[in-house]
Amino acid sequence: MKVPGLGGWGDDPAWATVYDWSVEHPRAGGLVWRFGIQSDLRRLYAATDEIGRQPAGARVLDVPCGGGVALRGLRPGQGVDYVAADIAQTMLDRTMAAARRRGVADQVVPRVADVGALPFEDDEFDLVVSFTGLHCFPDPARAVVEMTRVLRPGGVITGSAILNDTGLRHEPLRRGGRLAGLMGPGCTGAELVHWLAARGVPDVEVERSGAMGYFRGVKV
Ligand SMILES: C[S@@+](CC[C@H](N)C(=O)[O-])C[C@H]1O[C@@H](n2cnc3c(N)ncnc32)[C@H](O)[C@@H]1O
Repeated sequence: MKVPGLGGWGDDPAWATVYDWSVEHPRAGGLVWRFGIQSDLRRLYAATDEIGRQPAGARVLDVPCGGGVALRGLRPGQGVDYVAADIAQTMLDRTMAAARRRGVADQVVPRVADVGALPFEDDEFDLVVSFTGLHCFPDPARAVVEMTRVLRPGGVITGSAILNDTGLRHEPLRRGGRLAGLMGPGCTGAELVHWLAARGVPDVEVERSGAMGYFRGVKV
């Protein structure tokens, strides 16, 4: 159910600003993450290192890019072709502002896109990253199908999501998020592993960090 007037991600709800603030402030935002969802914000930053390991010429898809937190992993002069995709133009504007601040704007191309119908060819990307995203989508299984479709065999998919099987403690967060139209049905860690395996990404392990789960796999 969506409460009329609160808006969803496409409407750039106030929540988006609060969320962006939290991920861009390691100390104060880190405390919010620690006490709010019992998760270590530094784990998110560490997960973006995957981007920095890509060689020059690699194609990277970041969906949903949000305010551009994953750009922390991109190095100036790295020479990758980085597509930042999100359903909200406002988020893309934020990502590009972050890219300019970080000196990586020459590598980043913003693209309005719905993760449920990505406007890219099969096997187009060497790396797909999706941080704090799956629980926001109306159909996370469909999102996994699309993200793995555009990933080439041998490529890496990695990301994070608030999962459904983290206990009663996080149930108010999930219910409130859905009520506000900011969260979709979400999934458990086992469902995510199953969806990825069915799409040619086997042996994925989900590492827990409070309400959040981090995943990484290679498409065979
Ligand atoms: C919690 S933010 C996470 C963004 C970023 N990856 C991060 O970790 O900061 C969720 C993002 O998902 C985007 N989003 C929601 N539904 C989407 C969809 N169907 N397709 C693409 N992006 C979507 C929102 O606009 C928002 O920027």
